[in-house]
Amino acid sequence: NKTAFINNLMSKMTIDEKIGQLNLVTPGGAVTGSVVSQDVDDKIRNGLVGGLFGITGPTAVRQAQDIAVKNSRLHIPLLFGLDVIHGHRTIFPIPLGLSCSWDTALIEQSAAIAAKEATADGLNWAFSPMVDIARDPRWGRVAEGSGEDPYLGSKIAAAMVRGYQGSNYDSAIHLMACVKHFALYGAAEAGRDYNTVDMSRIKMYEYYLPPYKAAVDAGVGSVMSSFNEIDGIPATANKWLLTDLLRKQWGFKGIVVSDYTAVSEMIAHGSGDLQTVSALALKAGLDMDMVSEGFLTTLKQSLKEGKVTEQQINVACRRILEAKYDLGLFANPYRFLDESRVLRDIMTDENRAAARNYAAHACVLLKNTNGVLPLKKSGTIALIGPLAQSQRNMLGTWSVSGDWQKSVTIDSGMRYVGGDSVNIIYAKGTNISDDTAFAKRVNAFGEEISIDQRTPQEMLDEAVNIAKNADVIVAALGEAADMTGESSSMTDISLPESQQTLLKALVATGKPVVVVLMNGRPMTLTWEDEHVAAIVDAWFGGTEAGNGIADVLFGNYNPSGKITMTFPRNVGQIPIYYNHKNTGRPYIEGQGTKFKSDYLDVTNDPLYPFGYGLSYTTFSYSDVSLDSNTISGNQTLKATVTVTNTGAVAGEETVQLYIGDPVASVTQPVKKLKGFQKIMLQPGESKQVIFNITSDDLKFYNSDLKYVFEPGTFIIHIGPNSRDVKSAMVNWDK
Ligand code: IFM
Repeated sequence: NKTAFINNLMSKMTIDEKIGQLNLVTPGGAVTGSVVSQDVDDKIRNGLVGGLFGITGPTAVRQAQDIAVKNSRLHIPLLFGLDVIHGHRTIFPIPLGLSCSWDTALIEQSAAIAAKEATADGLNWAFSPMVDIARDPRWGRVAEGSGEDPYLGSKIAAAMVRGYQGSNYDSAIHLMACVKHFALYGAAEAGRDYNTVDMSRIKMYEYYLPPYKAAVDAGVGSVMSSFNEIDGIPATANKWLLTDLLRKQWGFKGIVVSDYTAVSEMIAHGSGDLQTVSALALKAGLDMDMVSEGFLTTLKQSLKEGKVTEQQINVACRRILEAKYDLGLFANPYRFLDESRVLRDIMTDENRAAARNYAAHACVLLKNTNGVLPLKKSGTIALIGPLAQSQRNMLGTWSVSGDWQKSVTIDSGMRYVGGDSVNIIYAKGTNISDDTAFAKRVNAFGEEISIDQRTPQEMLDEAVNIAKNADVIVAALGEAADMTGESSSMTDISLPESQQTLLKALVATGKPVVVVLMNGRPMTLTWEDEHVAAIVDAWFGGTEAGNGIADVLFGNYNPSGKITMTFPRNVGQIPIYYNHKNTGRPYIEGQGTKFKSDYLDVTNDPLYPFGYGLSYTTFSYSDVSLDSNTISGNQTLKATVTVTNTGAVAGEETVQLYIGDPVASVTQPVKKLKGFQKIMLQPGESKQVIFNITSDDLKFYNSDLKYVFEPGTFIIHIGPNSRDVKSAMVNWDK
């Protein structure tokens, strides 16, 4: 059995070999910091490497696995990890976009397809899901998560773990998932990546920790520690976090790996030299050191000096060997190395069809006046904008194995889906940004941002002339893919100035303007919302983005996405989120504003609230009916609404349940999401949607950090988004 096998193996291992298992190196590939590991092959041969990341393809992976299995003393196989974030070779919408589908089955399926492609490419470990709750769209990495809500975030986290891992890696189409970044990475001060995090325990437990916990409960095999500090101690060496909470309270049994050079970065944090921080990390519960080689180069010395114990090294080593055992690598180190699968499983028509479907499901219709959308498949459409034909920008951040040359642009998608009877005329109109210094900072895709050598006026004139000849204008605007993602924080989250100028000129033609937005974060769209006819937020849709977006624009798919992060009116409103507290001086419409918790220059309301998104049809909601207004203990409350499709086409609606707790020993937010159901309704059709509520749904963390139910009055809100809800009250006794 596993324990006997590992005991036997460990009894033969030298201390160097044990420490070697804790070493995760990259020979290149997805490099997000300065250090790239040296002499990788030699180290593998000498038993000094536990896993590799950054190489793909069964041939390259087999070469490395061969060295470990055939040429190292104890033949211990390697882990092969990679950032498989939203698809592997076939790229799906960015996670923030996929989360807008509120469709956990679809999201689970997307992770399963990603796992199938990644394992066909020789990988056995995906550094995903990223479940960091984020309330600050300035932070570029909001693109990689599922938004601001812990309930929805938890459902998605669990779905992704199931999709990646299957049932205990039951077949070689599943791999080990890695929930990240543990913990609180999304709460970096001022939305600046890698910045300090400081928050109360109650806030952690209530809002930020649930999705990581949900991934652990779903059986995730590994956890990645985050770059930030918590309570003044970097997460990577935070014993409370990695041992007391993760292992003792939550019962996590898998491996904890650091983020890229997070061990050595503790020197800059101010925690000591490499030997000190490496010992601190091991003792705190970190098992694997990504790229720093602090474990490899200092732990033996620390052992000699009594700063760590052999037992601590053994514990970490055992966990890594167990993960390899669970993946079936000892039984067959080549389990994930079947060259014939590359053609069979990667970038298949089926995977591309799924990608197209997901791209459509990710779209959120933010505005649609006078039925301008869906577009008719006739007449003339002016397709204008720097993102209309930009293949490079379709995939979005963290698509390391995606091939942008295989992606479908909005232009090609619209021509394909629109067919021959529609006349599409194109002009670029402007560069993504005319600020060349900025473009340079946006790294890899910088050349795509301000590539056009014509003057801005020439480009604008061309676009306006074309637009004048059209029945409707589709403006493909937004961010370059690398304006979000890691190390891509922004203080201004509006459209770049050159695009605003273009849009104003297009609106001035008097033709209806449909904005198709590509973005990795909520943007400030106050002017756009006032002046354009329609806005479709398509995020970065992946390989099939253009076809999925065209399906939405022409009405082949009726959009059903709902935003999972609040859209602010301006940057000054940030952080802004729906589950905020009431405060002692809440601003209440019509009751005056002086000495209230508000701003002088802008309302408290966001531009678009959490959960918001329109459809080509309309839905009406009945009042909320409760099966009882007083209830006690473990009884179940049934809350029912009838939702009717009052428009002319079939459509899906995500019905959302929120609960408010106006009196509690720890003040509660005005509402918390506690359930949702996505339903399909034909025109004229009505459906009853029933939520079964128990006292578990009313619990919160009290000041002793106990998850408790306190009897009292609760408000049950149901609606199409977090703002436009219908409500009913219930008294819930002990
Ligand atoms: O998985 C990533 C992480 O999200 C950010 N730093 C680098 C890691 C490995 O590529």
